[in-house]
Amino acid sequence: MIKETVLKLYKSTEIQQFLGLGISFMIAWLRMSFGMRNFKYIDTIKKTVESECPSTVSCADIIALSARDAVELLGGSHIEMKMGRKDSLLSYTATVEDFIPNHNDNISLVISRFQSIAVDIEAMVALLGAHSVGRVHCLNIVHRLYPTIDPTLDPSYAEFLKRRCPTPDPDSNSVEYARNDPETPMVLDNMYYKLLLSHKGLLLVYQQLTSDPSTLSYVKSMAANNSYFQDLFARAMILLSENNPLTGDQGEVRKDCWYVNAR
Ligand code: HEM
Repeated sequence: MIKETVLKLYKSTEIQQFLGLGISFMIAWLRMSFGMRNFKYIDTIKKTVESECPSTVSCADIIALSARDAVELLGGSHIEMKMGRKDSLLSYTATVEDFIPNHNDNISLVISRFQSIAVDIEAMVALLGAHSVGRVHCLNIVHRLYPTIDPTLDPSYAEFLKRRCPTPDPDSNSVEYARNDPETPMVLDNMYYKLLLSHKGLLLVYQQLTSDPSTLSYVKSMAANNSYFQDLFARAMILLSENNPLTGDQGEVRKDCWYVNAR
């Protein structure tokens, strides 16, 4: 019953935004980049799990396993992910946000941010392959199109993007967006890296992966070999999901993912 409910939820296209982001980093990341639109699914899963096994499965585990299953449902590898995380008794939003790179940051800063959470360069390049699915809102793209087109973008692709994002100042509430990977938008695969090598990466941070020699070699290897990408992506997801968890007597299993339990 739980499995069926959860699978139904994961099959929603929107759940893909949960792909791969580890626990608190995932929450802050998506909020910073454009908003965590679908936390409601985590609530639904939590309610279903609580009704069958009260106070047993933490929100942290639900989020990690949601990411794991989203990867598999989108064509990625099965990832052997550990369970047994506990939920925090405190909120560290501000601390986490200090560690989350912005899409306009330079690549050295992005690399150092990932290294500070034990994700090496190869794993970082693999994780960014999560952008093989999903979309980017025009608000995050227009600075590369107006007033002049970013010279690192393929010119005909830039014209295509200008048709998707026709004004330099899109309404932040509008749903104007472009797909990361128009070729295989619902498959987690290495097309992302092929597009980057053709100068068709939407965000500046993607394109920068091809300008730094320490990341370019991995981009090329992942573009050339989907199995290599899938193996690396699975390894990177494990690194991210095992970063500094609360276990054993630490923390608690929250009853409601939005709040610590009443004392
Ligand atoms: C340097 C690190 C990262 C930056 C700067 C970044 C930035 C962004 C931005 C700006 C968007 C577009 C949001 C929008 O306009 O709607 C986005 C979407 C997305 N990101 Fe990242 N991201 C990073 C790392 C990651 C990682 C590590 C993962 C997962 C492993 C990930 C998964 C996704 C997914 C799946 C989407 C698509 C969401 C959707 O379609 O609604 N990102 N990211």
